Amino acid sequence: QSFAVLVNGFVCKDPKDVKAEDFFLAAKLDMPRDTKANKVGSNVTLINVMRIPGLNTLGISLARIDYAPLGENPPHTHPRATEILTVLEGTLYVGFVTSNPDNKFLSKVLNKGDVFVFPEGLVHFQFNPNPYKPAVAIAALSSQNPGAITIANAVFGSKPAISDDVLAKAFQVEKKTVDWLQAQFWADNQN
Ligand SMILES: *[C@@H]1O[C@H](CO)[C@@H](O)[C@H](O)[C@H]1NC(C)=O
Repeated sequence: QSFAVLVNGFVCKDPKDVKAEDFFLAAKLDMPRDTKANKVGSNVTLINVMRIPGLNTLGISLARIDYAPLGENPPHTHPRATEILTVLEGTLYVGFVTSNPDNKFLSKVLNKGDVFVFPEGLVHFQFNPNPYKPAVAIAALSSQNPGAITIANAVFGSKPAISDDVLAKAFQVEKKTVDWLQAQFWADNQN
């Protein structure tokens, strides 16, 4: 049976039908992910309400993020969540930019065990500056369905493409630069 009403994605299950499995996932989050499958060199494994139905309405989710040497999780935002990230292995150069008009850039180099917060909706990234060693982080997000908007993919990789007149003016570059960017393959790094 399906309903027209959605609660940030899903209808709640009748409590009498709820099982432990609704709150469980054998996610193998202890295992490294493949960071060579995309050009940015990172792999985000997001455990949200789509993967654990019991998260519905609870306002929380989790991600494991693997970074190749020199890999990054490129500038993106979560429209519905603040994120708190901890480094399990390696080093990460991280940062976020505050909203208009200041657009203040706050950044930090994190080592194993360090924790950093990315406030809701702000553009942020993580970069592994080590050319030899991978890095791993675990992030918690304050929504069961945080959403993600990768800036480059949304702006230059939209389907259909945004007019190059619009983007040339917005970025103050020539149209052929926009055309080149739009011709690139903007791969997603999230599973
Ligand atoms: C992430 O890694 C898994 C294997 O660990 C791989 O199957 C998947 O394609 C990778 N995803 C991305 C988006 O790179």
